[in-house]
Amino acid sequence: MQDTIDYIKKQIKDFTPEIGIILGSGLGDFADNMTGVRVKYQDIPGFEKSTVAGHKGQLVFGEVEGKRAVVMQGRYHYYEGYHISRIVYPVKVMKKLGVKTLIITNAAGSVNKKYKAGDLMVITDHINLMGVNPLIGENDASLGDRFPDMSEIYKESLINTALQLAKEHNIILRQGVYAAMSGPSYETPAEINMLRIMGADAVGMSTVPEALVANYCGMEVLGISCITNSAAGVHPSRLSHAEVVATAAKAKDSFKNLLVSVIRRI
Ligand code: HPA
Repeated sequence: MQDTIDYIKKQIKDFTPEIGIILGSGLGDFADNMTGVRVKYQDIPGFEKSTVAGHKGQLVFGEVEGKRAVVMQGRYHYYEGYHISRIVYPVKVMKKLGVKTLIITNAAGSVNKKYKAGDLMVITDHINLMGVNPLIGENDASLGDRFPDMSEIYKESLINTALQLAKEHNIILRQGVYAAMSGPSYETPAEINMLRIMGADAVGMSTVPEALVANYCGMEVLGISCITNSAAGVHPSRLSHAEVVATAAKAKDSFKNLLVSVIRRI
C-alpha cells in the first residue's frame, strides 16, 4: 500500500482528491475531457491491469465542478479471476488519498419490469450474491471495524439529492435495489425470477464489493446504475456485452448531466 501511495503521490504532487468516481462499462467517457493527471493502472505498484472491453484502466485526477476528484476509468471485476481483495484495493487507496465521498456507477440489467433500457437508477441498497465478502481476512483496524454496520451503505441524503436533481433536469431516475452476481455469464431467466422475489430491481457484476468496502472505511457512497438491458427472460432477446456498452453510451448525456449536477451539490 505504501508503494502504491508513494507512486501516485509522485504523479499528483499535493493534489488531494475529495471525491472518488468509479465509471462502469460504457460510461468511461465521462473522464475523457477532464484536464489533469492520468495514471495507468499497469504503472501503479499494487494495481492489476483491467481486462474488460469498454474499460480504459486508468486513474484520472482533476477537478469536476470545482471539486477535486479521482476518477477510475475502468474497474476490476471478480469474474476477471482476481482475488476479491484486489477488486476493492483501489477503494482503500482512494480512502488513503483523502476521498470522503465515492460515486460508484455501473451498467445493469433490469429485474424490475417497469424499467426500460437507458433508464438510470439510484441504488438504495444491495444484495450481495457474489458468494464472497471483500472483508474476509485479517482486518486492518486503521480502516474500519471487524464487524462493520451496513444498514445505510448508500447515503440517504445523497440519494435524495440525486432524485431531486434528476427531477430538475428531466432525467428519468429510478430508485431500487441492486443485486450483484459474480458473472461472467449472464443470469438465467429462473435466476432473474429469484432476484425479483428477493426484492432486487437491477442486477450486475460489480459495485457491491466497492460499496461495501467504502462504507466500511467511512466513506459516503452514492451508487448509480445505467439500465442497459432487460435481464434474462424479461424479453425474449439474447444478452450481449456489445448491447450493454452501446446502450450505456446512448444514456451517457443524461448520466453525465446527473453526475455533474450531483458533484456540484456535494
Ligand atoms: N446481468 C448482469 N450484469 C449486467 C447485465 C445483466 O443483465 N447488464 C449489464 N450488466
